[in-house]
Amino acid sequence: MRHPRRLAAFLAIGWLLAFVACDTLLTESPDPGEVFDGPIDGLSDELNRMFVRGDGNFEKVFTVAGGLGPIFNQPGCESCHPADGRGTPALALVRFSVGSDLVLLLGGPQLQDKAIPGSKPETLPDGVDTSLRLPPPVFGMGFIEAIPAATIISLADSLDADGDGISGRVNWVLPADFVPESEIGGGSGWQVGRFGRKASVAALIEQVVTAYHQDVGITTGSTTISPSGSNVTCRSPPCVAIT
Ligand code: HEC
Repeated sequence: MRHPRRLAAFLAIGWLLAFVACDTLLTESPDPGEVFDGPIDGLSDELNRMFVRGDGNFEKVFTVAGGLGPIFNQPGCESCHPADGRGTPALALVRFSVGSDLVLLLGGPQLQDKAIPGSKPETLPDGVDTSLRLPPPVFGMGFIEAIPAATIISLADSLDADGDGISGRVNWVLPADFVPESEIGGGSGWQVGRFGRKASVAALIEQVVTAYHQDVGITTGSTTISPSGSNVTCRSPPCVAIT
């Protein structure tokens, strides 16, 4: 041994790390209820079961036999929102329109750039406006849904009248026809927008149904979307029921 003293020093540091500094050098696992992709503490059994069911659906990778496509962007939610988090630029999707016209008959408003065997991926029509969208993190959506509409309305401050450097206004949007009136953000008339870019969607169920439909090519059996409002049609095997 040419450097016994150096070896001794290394060993000593090793012991020190093992016994003294573990809790300061290593990260600790968070308490249950504090992880972003887990349920919050204190949910009822029924809500915990709903969480597990939803989480399973979110992780699911769809296959052709399971209803994927015919055209789609990715085969499942987690493909774009890994661990319920933000997607990378490679996962960005393209929406297109001509001004405010969503050009449904040209395949708008989203470019599905992948297809199952026997179908063709979409290509961008000429002369359309495009918008590149990065997948945002999706944890905490239930908290956004739980904010009373009146609170959001009362916090609106479009001209920064209170001088705190933050301005914002409510985006009033019409929910899709299939959103039940009992859902937060559902009902007739204009509702407070909460989800998606510039809070353009009022109800979480609408955001999710649209994601299945436009991003994964899955038409959910529990809702009907008018074929004229879609460029993905339900095919055999029949529509998948996502509950
Ligand atoms: C191809 C990528 C992609 C896939 C697959 C995808 N998403 Fe998204 N998701 C996005 C993008 C991009 C946005 C931002 C949309 C926008 O700009 O309006 C988004 C937004 C969302 C939001 C709103 C987040 C917020 O802050 O308001 C939710 C909720 C969501 N997705 C759920 C899902 C679910 C559920 C699935 C599976 C059925 C899914 N997503 C599949 C790309 C994807």
